[in-house]
Amino acid sequence: MSQTITITRPDDWHLHLRDDEMLRAVLPETARHFGRAIIMPNLVPPVVTANDAAAYRARIMDALPIGDDFQPLMTLYLTDKTNAVDVAAAYAEGLITAVKLYPAGATTNSDSGVTDIKHVMPVLEEMAAIGCPLCIHGEVTGADIDIFDRESVFIDTVLDPLRRALPELKIISEHITTKTAADYVMAADKNLAATITTHHLIINRNHILVGGIKPHYYCLPIAKREHHRIALRKAATSGDARFFLGTDSAPHTDPNKESACGCAGVFSATNTMSCLAHVFEEDGALDKLEGFASLNGPAYYGLQPNRAKLMLVKSSTPVEYPVSIETRDGPVTVFDPGYPLFWRVV
Ligand code: DOR
Ligand code: ZN
Repeated sequence: MSQTITITRPDDWHLHLRDDEMLRAVLPETARHFGRAIIMPNLVPPVVTANDAAAYRARIMDALPIGDDFQPLMTLYLTDKTNAVDVAAAYAEGLITAVKLYPAGATTNSDSGVTDIKHVMPVLEEMAAIGCPLCIHGEVTGADIDIFDRESVFIDTVLDPLRRALPELKIISEHITTKTAADYVMAADKNLAATITTHHLIINRNHILVGGIKPHYYCLPIAKREHHRIALRKAATSGDARFFLGTDSAPHTDPNKESACGCAGVFSATNTMSCLAHVFEEDGALDKLEGFASLNGPAYYGLQPNRAKLMLVKSSTPVEYPVSIETRDGPVTVFDPGYPLFWRVV
């Protein structure tokens, strides 16, 4: 008899949908399985004002197949010049669910990000006062800091001081990649949670570099050593409600990945739920999958879980996923976990 599990329909608390043709191609990959997603604002130009967010939301809704009830949860891209009044109005109206902090230069399309946390303290103070969550790309950018240390240095030099200065600010440490970050979240008394991607539960840095460079495993923050991956798996499968799914599914066309200077990003929307069921089963924690993918995120954001359910079935033959999805901009390679997947969404 085939094994099945039924969970509350999941949400993706960190997603890149892009715009135009790419948006049209990747949106159905997420909407197929997920009820809602936090939409990252790092477009070119970025989603900076309430008006930008409203217009982007309208473009996403326009790209959704008719009758699909997927809900995009919008964010604003924090800059040195962000206006606290604009943020407060957009949050009060329900137009945005969170604000995203990119340290300037930390990742794809982050040039307009924050150059010094001091510049945005008035906005962060307002957000703390009104309860608006802050999603943080937690990496320092200094050229002198090794890329594998950027997350832990950020915790010491930016995140911890910020939390001490503004303990009421509700923070989500996005796509954590280290044991250091997982331990830091576990030690927090309040107002700190973390998203974990599907791929960081599966790959370590060897997957990127051993036997030749694998550009489709290159993302930011970059995957770390194996003991960090193990710590992320423990955190994700522990049932601790401060950890939840944010896939960071980030489409780039193959020519842009397979290049002398390839873009950072792993596209995992298509097979994420199959990958997660595999991971949670492997760790003897299938009963914790619903918390991680469907319950912990809404609880932290103060939202209700989705009403709909999602059923997964484990088959005896591997599920066939496309190697890449076609877009009018070119093919986008789907994350390859490196082993066959037997869980499928039905
Ligand atoms: O790998 C990544 N890709 N990390 C990010 O932080 C941004 C994302 C993107 O937008 O491509
Ligand atoms: Zn991201």
